[in-house]
Amino acid sequence: MEQNINPATYREIVFFTGAGMSAESGVPTYRGKGGIWGSYSIDEYACQEAFDRNPEKVLGFHEKRRKSVLDCQPHEGHSVVAVLPNAKVVTQNIDGMHQRAGSKDVIELHGSLWRLRCQSCGFRKEDLAESYETTRCDCGDRLRPDIIWFGDMLDAVVMSKASQAIRNCDLFVSIGTSGTVWPAAGFPDLAKQSGAYCIEINPEPSGASEYDRVIVGNAGEVLPELFSES
Ligand code: APR
Repeated sequence: MEQNINPATYREIVFFTGAGMSAESGVPTYRGKGGIWGSYSIDEYACQEAFDRNPEKVLGFHEKRRKSVLDCQPHEGHSVVAVLPNAKVVTQNIDGMHQRAGSKDVIELHGSLWRLRCQSCGFRKEDLAESYETTRCDCGDRLRPDIIWFGDMLDAVVMSKASQAIRNCDLFVSIGTSGTVWPAAGFPDLAKQSGAYCIEINPEPSGASEYDRVIVGNAGEVLPELFSES
């Protein structure tokens, strides 16, 4: 590759990832060819109103996603990110792939497929099984997937942790996001304004002007090469 990155020359690296990061593992992206929102309507599966109308249908959709994600494995790109001691991951992904690859410092902006949350008392429950153990809280109300659906507010604490990590980093690597969903879409600009060197890795780059370097390619191929020592 034209110019490899030596991670030791950076104080703190933030990998900002979207669905494209997991594409080579077999997890479908949301938009574009084969995208989830091409087959499933957001109004029926990915908003609070849908859950209120038909919780079983929405839970069934998320159970199906859990099962399909468990059939997928993290790829080499996830491993490259996971072994860097000075790296944080800020991800829009809910699939838990970074953690399965061994990343310890993962900020999940849009929640997780592997957690449920009580709508009434706010209790959060980790549930890593293919099928939900229970979808009832001890308080009696329903548990819903602890995911940021369309129309939901992002968790303020998570958002603040993510912004802080991005403000502090000196290398920002955006991977596999269309950059269409806010507020995450504003992170490349925040990184640039904060003085980080900004790289985008995507087979179909976003066209955003913040990036100092754009690498056209797939995460699983580009990352191992970009961070290799030779
Ligand atoms: N490597 C890198 N990037 C890839 C790869 C790959 N192998 N394959 C596809 N991509 C890129 C696509 O070109 C596209 O730019 O990944 C991006 C996926 O875009 P989206 O499907 O829009 O996913 P994302 O940006 O993560 O969506 C943001 O939208 O629906 C919500 O909450 C959901 O977190 C999600 C958010």
